[in-house]
Amino acid sequence: MNQSFKITAKTLGGFEETLADEIKRIGGSNISIGTRSVFYSGSKEVLYKSNLHLRTAIRVLVPFKDFTAKNEKEFYKNIYDVKWENFITHKNTIALDSAVNSNIFRHSKFVAQLAKDAIVDRIRNLEGKRPSVDLDNPDLRINIHIKENHCTLSLDSSGDSLHKRGYRIEKVEAPLSEVLAAGLVLLTGWNGETKFIDPMCGSGTVPIEACLIARNIPPNYYRENFGFQKWKDYDAKLWHQIKNEAKENFKDLSIKIIGTDISLEAVEIARRNVERAKLDENIIIKKESITEAELKTGPGIVVTNPPYGERLKKENIEEFYKKLGDSFKQNFKNFDVWIFSYNKNALKHFGLRTSKRLTLFNGPLECKYHKYSIYEGSKKQFREE
Ligand SMILES: C[S@@+](CC[C@H](N)C(=O)[O-])C[C@H]1O[C@@H](n2cnc3c(N)ncnc32)[C@H](O)[C@@H]1O
Repeated sequence: MNQSFKITAKTLGGFEETLADEIKRIGGSNISIGTRSVFYSGSKEVLYKSNLHLRTAIRVLVPFKDFTAKNEKEFYKNIYDVKWENFITHKNTIALDSAVNSNIFRHSKFVAQLAKDAIVDRIRNLEGKRPSVDLDNPDLRINIHIKENHCTLSLDSSGDSLHKRGYRIEKVEAPLSEVLAAGLVLLTGWNGETKFIDPMCGSGTVPIEACLIARNIPPNYYRENFGFQKWKDYDAKLWHQIKNEAKENFKDLSIKIIGTDISLEAVEIARRNVERAKLDENIIIKKESITEAELKTGPGIVVTNPPYGERLKKENIEEFYKKLGDSFKQNFKNFDVWIFSYNKNALKHFGLRTSKRLTLFNGPLECKYHKYSIYEGSKKQFREE
């Protein structure tokens, strides 16, 4: 049980350091940072904790075979040679994910198909019947990563992506991924002791993830299914022990986290998501337009992602961002305002001086995450700048 093995956690571009910090806190060792990945070592306990506690991980993989292949035949043979009968029988279902960056293997779907053929051929030759594929809820999810001729096979211990915490059944248009929302809050360093507001909260993802952080509730505490629970070596006792220990460390929160939105539909969706996350005692969701926000006095922080303006004309979105900047200046005294946006041109019209600029990636999309510090009495200075 205490034996250590290699683990890889996948994340979004720009959150590698944040994820590495999280991994350190749950006891991972030999931590090193890759692109959208963090590599580390740990026991089964660390693996289970990774799935429960890591807020910025999308999936947690256990690599178990590395090989080189210069053509499809070699690739097939290497996959066929794995003792798949140690993991599954013909009665089980499988799914394969693949990511390729190679001149030899160009199509990730084809690679996944070929690997699937090798696995089912082996089991059929041994047992007379073949396992079938279930993309949604397989018994075993296998991950293939290929860089040029170097292939890594991993078992996916998460199963479904870890952003699926379970509370967000309904969402508004363009919601943030839960992993991204949690990462945005962690990057601010907010500790749950000052005010927290998302004034364009949509489905409530940012307030919910902020509250989970402040209350020290693991992001996937209420999620019911993880890939490793279907593995032959699943240790249910250890898993329950880890969950009980986590529960003992939940914290109370003395402040209320606030989410507001101009859309009544979004407000209703956010309220139901908050309820499902069991955080209705800590989060207040209200209908309010940011441009007509009441005066709020800090210390506190705002973390929000305004509309990106896909449906608005260029001038309209620029005008909207200008109004946003004015509203923060006038109505959020002594707040650190963190704005996340894909629209870097619109951000230029915000009219406030940035005190920090980060570039992050949501999948392939480059995004900006800017911090503006709004101090009492600095309005004139901002205007001049
Ligand atoms: C990109 S979405 C936010 C998504 C949210 N972070 C989530 O995860 O669901 C932008 C939100 O801003 C809201 N919005 C647009 N104009 C607003 C205004 N003037 N005041 C407050 N909210 C506004 C929209 O209704 C929408 O829900």
